[in-house]
Amino acid sequence: MMKIIKTVKEMQGFSKRCRSDGKIIAFVPTMGFLHQGHLRLMEEGRRVGDVLVISIFINPTQFGEGEDFERYPKDFSRDTDLAQKVGVDVAFFPSSSDIYPKEYQTYVNVEQVTRNLCGLSRPGHFRGVTTVVAKLFNIVMPHIALFGQKDFQQLITIKRMVRDLSFDIKIMGIPTVREEDGLAMSSRNTYLKPQEREAALCLYRSICKAEHLFKSGENNADNILKEVTRIVKAENLAKIEYIKICDVNTLQDIERIDTEAVLAMAVMIGETRLIDNLVFEYPR
Ligand code: PAJ
Repeated sequence: MMKIIKTVKEMQGFSKRCRSDGKIIAFVPTMGFLHQGHLRLMEEGRRVGDVLVISIFINPTQFGEGEDFERYPKDFSRDTDLAQKVGVDVAFFPSSSDIYPKEYQTYVNVEQVTRNLCGLSRPGHFRGVTTVVAKLFNIVMPHIALFGQKDFQQLITIKRMVRDLSFDIKIMGIPTVREEDGLAMSSRNTYLKPQEREAALCLYRSICKAEHLFKSGENNADNILKEVTRIVKAENLAKIEYIKICDVNTLQDIERIDTEAVLAMAVMIGETRLIDNLVFEYPR
Protein backbone atom coordinates (compact mmCIF):
# COMPACT_ATOMS: atom_id res chain seq x y z
CA MET A 1 0.00 0.00 0.00
CA MET A 2 1.33 3.46 -0.88
CA LYS A 3 1.72 5.86 2.00
CA ILE A 4 0.66 9.50 1.70
CA ILE A 5 2.69 11.87 3.84
CA LYS A 6 1.55 15.47 4.23
CA THR A 7 3.98 17.09 6.64
CA VAL A 8 7.69 17.91 6.45
CA LYS A 9 8.28 16.46 9.90
CA GLU A 10 6.69 13.11 9.11
CA MET A 11 8.54 12.89 5.80
CA GLN A 12 11.89 13.53 7.48
CA GLY A 13 11.09 10.95 10.13
CA PHE A 14 10.23 8.36 7.50
CA SER A 15 13.43 9.00 5.51
CA LYS A 16 15.62 8.87 8.61
CA ARG A 17 14.21 5.44 9.47
CA CYS A 18 14.81 4.19 5.91
CA ARG A 19 18.38 5.44 6.03
CA SER A 20 19.13 3.84 9.37
CA ASP A 21 17.76 0.58 7.95
CA GLY A 22 20.34 0.91 5.17
CA LYS A 23 17.76 1.44 2.43
CA ILE A 24 18.51 3.37 -0.77
CA ILE A 25 15.94 6.16 -1.25
CA ALA A 26 15.07 7.13 -4.83
CA PHE A 27 13.12 10.37 -5.30
CA VAL A 28 11.04 11.85 -8.13
CA PRO A 29 9.81 15.41 -7.51
CA THR A 30 6.74 16.46 -9.53
CA MET A 31 4.01 19.06 -9.68
CA GLY A 32 1.39 16.35 -10.23
CA PHE A 33 -1.13 15.77 -13.01
CA LEU A 34 1.00 12.75 -13.77
CA HIS A 35 1.57 11.38 -17.27
CA GLN A 36 3.77 8.70 -18.84
CA GLY A 37 6.84 10.96 -18.63
CA HIS A 38 6.54 11.17 -14.85
CA LEU A 39 5.76 7.45 -14.65
CA ARG A 40 8.90 6.58 -16.61
CA LEU A 41 10.99 8.45 -14.02
CA MET A 42 9.22 6.51 -11.29
CA GLU A 43 9.80 3.14 -12.98
CA GLU A 44 13.48 3.96 -13.18
CA GLY A 45 13.45 5.11 -9.55
CA ARG A 46 11.79 1.83 -8.60
CA ARG A 47 14.65 -0.01 -10.28
CA VAL A 48 17.53 1.90 -8.69
CA GLY A 49 16.17 2.37 -5.15
CA ASP A 50 14.83 0.22 -2.32
CA VAL A 51 12.30 2.88 -1.38
CA LEU A 52 10.65 5.13 -3.94
CA VAL A 53 9.38 8.54 -2.82
CA ILE A 54 7.63 11.06 -5.06
CA SER A 55 6.48 14.56 -4.23
CA ILE A 56 3.46 16.36 -5.60
CA PHE A 57 3.72 20.09 -5.01
CA ILE A 58 2.78 22.94 -7.32
CA ASN A 59 5.60 25.24 -6.34
CA PRO A 60 4.42 28.87 -6.30
CA THR A 61 7.94 30.38 -6.35
CA GLN A 62 8.80 29.02 -9.80
CA PHE A 63 5.83 30.67 -11.51
CA GLY A 64 6.19 34.23 -12.78
CA GLU A 65 3.53 36.89 -12.77
CA GLY A 66 0.89 36.22 -15.40
CA GLU A 67 1.92 32.54 -15.68
CA ASP A 68 -0.39 29.60 -15.05
CA PHE A 69 0.07 28.98 -11.31
CA GLU A 70 -3.64 29.48 -10.55
CA ARG A 71 -4.85 27.28 -13.36
CA TYR A 72 -2.13 24.60 -13.28
CA PRO A 73 -4.00 21.28 -13.65
CA LYS A 74 -4.46 19.01 -10.66
CA ASP A 75 -6.05 15.62 -10.00
CA PHE A 76 -4.78 14.20 -6.74
CA SER A 77 -6.85 11.01 -6.72
CA ARG A 78 -5.84 10.10 -10.26
CA ASP A 79 -2.19 10.87 -9.41
CA THR A 80 -2.21 8.65 -6.35
CA ASP A 81 -3.81 5.79 -8.32
CA LEU A 82 -1.14 6.02 -11.02
CA ALA A 83 1.69 6.33 -8.50
CA GLN A 84 0.42 3.34 -6.56
CA LYS A 85 0.32 1.28 -9.76
CA VAL A 86 3.98 1.95 -10.62
CA GLY A 87 5.00 0.94 -7.13
CA VAL A 88 5.64 4.24 -5.38
CA ASP A 89 6.13 3.70 -1.63
CA VAL A 90 5.48 7.25 -0.45
CA ALA A 91 3.75 10.23 -2.05
CA PHE A 92 4.79 13.39 -0.25
CA PHE A 93 2.03 15.97 -0.64
CA PRO A 94 2.92 18.98 1.50
CA SER A 95 0.94 22.15 2.04
CA SER A 96 2.31 25.41 0.76
CA SER A 97 2.57 26.83 4.29
CA ASP A 98 4.65 23.86 5.44
CA ILE A 99 7.12 24.38 2.59
CA TYR A 100 7.08 28.19 2.78
CA PRO A 101 6.35 29.13 6.38
CA LYS A 102 5.51 32.70 7.31
CA GLU A 103 8.40 35.12 6.68
CA TYR A 104 10.19 32.64 4.44
CA GLN A 105 13.24 34.39 2.96
CA THR A 106 15.89 31.90 1.83
CA TYR A 107 16.55 31.16 -1.84
CA VAL A 108 19.01 29.11 -3.84
CA ASN A 109 20.25 30.68 -7.05
CA VAL A 110 22.37 28.93 -9.65
CA GLU A 111 23.96 31.69 -11.72
CA GLN A 112 25.48 30.96 -15.15
CA VAL A 113 23.47 28.08 -16.52
CA THR A 114 20.14 29.73 -15.68
CA ARG A 115 20.88 32.88 -17.71
CA ASN A 116 20.14 31.71 -21.25
CA LEU A 117 17.07 29.97 -22.77
CA CYS A 118 14.09 29.81 -20.35
CA GLY A 119 16.06 31.99 -17.91
CA LEU A 120 15.73 34.90 -20.35
CA SER A 121 11.96 34.78 -20.63
CA ARG A 122 11.12 33.48 -17.14
CA PRO A 123 13.18 35.57 -14.69
CA GLY A 124 13.18 33.98 -11.25
CA HIS A 125 11.84 30.66 -12.53
CA PHE A 126 14.97 28.59 -11.88
CA ARG A 127 15.53 30.30 -8.53
CA GLY A 128 12.12 28.95 -7.54
CA VAL A 129 12.97 25.50 -8.89
CA THR A 130 16.35 25.21 -7.17
CA THR A 131 14.94 26.57 -3.92
CA VAL A 132 12.14 24.03 -3.75
CA VAL A 133 14.31 21.16 -4.96
CA ALA A 134 16.99 21.97 -2.35
CA LYS A 135 14.28 21.98 0.30
CA LEU A 136 12.79 18.72 -0.96
CA PHE A 137 16.27 17.17 -0.88
CA ASN A 138 16.61 18.17 2.79
CA ILE A 139 13.16 16.79 3.56
CA VAL A 140 13.23 13.52 1.58
CA MET A 141 17.00 12.95 2.00
CA PRO A 142 17.26 10.75 -1.11
CA HIS A 143 20.37 8.94 -2.30
CA ILE A 144 19.22 9.26 -5.92
CA ALA A 145 16.91 11.80 -7.56
CA LEU A 146 15.50 11.50 -11.08
CA PHE A 147 14.71 14.33 -13.51
CA GLY A 148 13.50 14.42 -17.11
CA GLN A 149 15.62 15.60 -20.03
CA LYS A 150 12.44 17.21 -21.34
CA ASP A 151 13.27 20.11 -18.98
CA PHE A 152 16.88 20.14 -20.06
CA GLN A 153 17.94 23.43 -18.50
CA GLN A 154 16.30 22.38 -15.23
CA LEU A 155 18.28 19.12 -15.25
CA ILE A 156 21.59 20.93 -15.87
CA THR A 157 20.74 23.52 -13.21
CA ILE A 158 19.96 20.86 -10.59
CA LYS A 159 23.18 18.99 -11.42
CA ARG A 160 25.10 22.24 -11.00
CA MET A 161 23.40 22.98 -7.67
CA VAL A 162 24.14 19.49 -6.35
CA ARG A 163 27.83 19.83 -7.19
CA ASP A 164 28.15 23.41 -5.98
CA LEU A 165 26.34 22.82 -2.66
CA SER A 166 27.82 19.33 -2.09
CA PHE A 167 24.50 17.51 -1.84
CA ASP A 168 25.38 13.82 -1.49
CA ILE A 169 22.78 12.83 -4.09
CA LYS A 170 23.14 11.17 -7.48
CA ILE A 171 21.12 12.96 -10.18
CA MET A 172 19.81 10.79 -13.00
CA GLY A 173 18.53 12.33 -16.26
CA ILE A 174 15.82 10.35 -18.08
CA PRO A 175 15.09 10.72 -21.83
CA THR A 176 11.94 12.55 -22.94
CA VAL A 177 8.79 10.46 -23.21
CA ARG A 178 6.62 11.39 -26.21
CA GLU A 179 3.08 10.79 -27.41
CA GLU A 180 2.81 8.41 -30.34
CA ASP A 181 2.88 11.33 -32.79
CA GLY A 182 6.00 12.79 -31.17
CA LEU A 183 4.63 15.54 -28.93
CA ALA A 184 6.68 15.61 -25.72
CA MET A 185 4.42 14.70 -22.80
CA SER A 186 3.65 17.57 -20.47
CA SER A 187 0.98 18.35 -17.89
CA ARG A 188 0.44 21.56 -19.86
CA ASN A 189 -0.60 19.67 -23.02
CA THR A 190 -4.04 19.49 -21.44
CA TYR A 191 -4.44 23.23 -22.19
CA LEU A 192 -4.24 22.62 -25.96
CA LYS A 193 -7.46 22.87 -27.97
CA PRO A 194 -7.79 20.26 -30.77
CA GLN A 195 -6.44 22.59 -33.45
CA GLU A 196 -3.55 23.64 -31.22
CA ARG A 197 -2.75 20.02 -30.39
CA GLU A 198 -2.23 19.48 -34.12
CA ALA A 199 -0.16 22.66 -34.43
CA ALA A 200 2.03 21.60 -31.49
CA LEU A 201 3.54 18.89 -33.67
CA CYS A 202 5.68 21.50 -35.40
CA LEU A 203 8.13 21.29 -32.49
CA TYR A 204 8.81 17.59 -32.95
CA ARG A 205 8.78 17.92 -36.73
CA SER A 206 11.49 20.59 -36.52
CA ILE A 207 13.53 18.49 -34.09
CA CYS A 208 13.46 15.51 -36.44
CA LYS A 209 14.69 17.75 -39.22
CA ALA A 210 17.55 18.99 -37.05
CA GLU A 211 18.53 15.46 -36.16
CA HIS A 212 18.50 14.46 -39.80
CA LEU A 213 20.66 17.44 -40.80
CA PHE A 214 23.15 16.75 -38.02
CA LYS A 215 23.37 13.07 -38.90
CA SER A 216 24.00 13.99 -42.53
CA GLY A 217 27.05 15.95 -41.44
CA GLU A 218 25.78 19.50 -40.83
CA ASN A 219 27.83 21.18 -38.09
CA ASN A 220 26.88 24.78 -38.53
CA ALA A 221 24.40 25.84 -35.86
CA ASP A 222 22.92 28.66 -37.98
CA ASN A 223 22.19 26.33 -40.88
CA ILE A 224 20.31 23.97 -38.59
CA LEU A 225 18.52 26.81 -36.78
CA LYS A 226 17.36 28.30 -40.10
CA GLU A 227 15.65 25.05 -41.09
CA VAL A 228 14.18 24.46 -37.65
CA THR A 229 12.85 28.01 -37.45
CA ARG A 230 11.34 27.75 -40.92
CA ILE A 231 9.41 24.62 -39.96
CA VAL A 232 8.04 26.12 -36.75
CA LYS A 233 7.18 29.42 -38.43
CA ALA A 234 5.19 27.61 -41.11
CA GLU A 235 2.69 26.82 -38.37
CA ASN A 236 0.28 29.74 -38.01
CA LEU A 237 -0.62 29.11 -34.38
CA ALA A 238 3.03 28.96 -33.31
CA LYS A 239 4.96 31.89 -31.89
CA ILE A 240 8.66 31.29 -31.25
CA GLU A 241 10.03 32.41 -27.91
CA TYR A 242 13.51 31.04 -28.58
CA ILE A 243 15.22 28.37 -30.63
CA LYS A 244 18.92 27.95 -29.87
CA ILE A 245 21.82 25.56 -30.05
CA CYS A 246 23.95 25.50 -26.91
CA ASP A 247 26.85 23.72 -25.30
CA VAL A 248 25.26 21.06 -23.02
CA ASN A 249 27.37 22.04 -20.03
CA THR A 250 27.43 25.83 -20.12
CA LEU A 251 24.15 26.32 -22.02
CA GLN A 252 25.81 29.15 -23.91
CA ASP A 253 25.04 29.60 -27.60
CA ILE A 254 27.50 27.95 -29.95
CA GLU A 255 28.16 28.44 -33.64
CA ARG A 256 29.58 25.03 -34.49
CA ILE A 257 28.54 21.68 -33.12
CA ASP A 258 32.02 20.44 -32.30
CA THR A 259 31.18 19.48 -28.73
CA GLU A 260 28.15 17.90 -27.05
CA ALA A 261 25.32 20.27 -27.84
CA VAL A 262 21.59 20.73 -27.37
CA LEU A 263 18.95 22.25 -29.60
CA ALA A 264 16.44 23.84 -27.23
CA MET A 265 13.21 25.64 -28.01
CA ALA A 266 10.25 27.33 -26.34
CA VAL A 267 7.23 27.98 -28.53
CA MET A 268 3.84 29.43 -27.70
CA ILE A 269 0.97 27.53 -29.27
CA GLY A 270 -1.94 29.86 -28.68
CA GLU A 271 -1.76 30.61 -24.96
CA THR A 272 0.22 27.49 -24.11
CA ARG A 273 3.98 27.58 -23.71
CA LEU A 274 5.70 24.38 -24.87
CA ILE A 275 9.36 23.41 -24.65
CA ASP A 276 11.31 20.66 -26.33
CA ASN A 277 14.91 19.81 -27.11
CA LEU A 278 17.29 17.48 -28.86
CA VAL A 279 20.72 16.47 -27.61
CA PHE A 280 23.23 16.05 -30.44
CA GLU A 281 25.41 13.08 -29.65
CA TYR A 282 28.97 14.21 -30.39
CA PRO A 283 31.08 12.77 -31.89
CA ARG A 284 28.53 11.43 -34.39
P1 PAJ B 1 6.93 18.57 -13.50
O1 PAJ B 1 6.74 19.45 -14.68
O2 PAJ B 1 5.74 17.93 -12.86
O3 PAJ B 1 7.96 17.45 -13.91
C1 PAJ B 1 8.41 16.50 -12.96
C2 PAJ B 1 9.56 15.73 -13.58
O4 PAJ B 1 9.07 15.00 -14.73
C3 PAJ B 1 10.68 16.63 -14.11
O5 PAJ B 1 11.93 16.04 -13.81
C4 PAJ B 1 10.42 16.66 -15.60
O6 PAJ B 1 11.58 16.91 -16.37
C5 PAJ B 1 9.90 15.26 -15.83
N1 PAJ B 1 9.13 15.18 -17.09
C6 PAJ B 1 8.10 15.96 -17.46
N2 PAJ B 1 7.68 15.61 -18.70
C7 PAJ B 1 8.48 14.61 -19.13
C8 PAJ B 1 8.58 13.83 -20.32
N3 PAJ B 1 7.76 14.02 -21.35
N4 PAJ B 1 9.53 12.88 -20.40
C9 PAJ B 1 10.39 12.68 -19.36
N5 PAJ B 1 10.35 13.38 -18.21
C10 PAJ B 1 9.41 14.33 -18.08
O7 PAJ B 1 9.64 19.82 -13.37
C11 PAJ B 1 8.88 20.03 -12.45
O8 PAJ B 1 7.67 19.39 -12.31
C12 PAJ B 1 9.19 21.01 -11.32
O9 PAJ B 1 9.98 22.05 -11.84
C13 PAJ B 1 9.88 20.37 -10.10
C14 PAJ B 1 11.24 19.74 -10.48
C15 PAJ B 1 8.97 19.28 -9.48
C16 PAJ B 1 10.15 21.45 -9.02
O10 PAJ B 1 8.99 22.07 -8.65
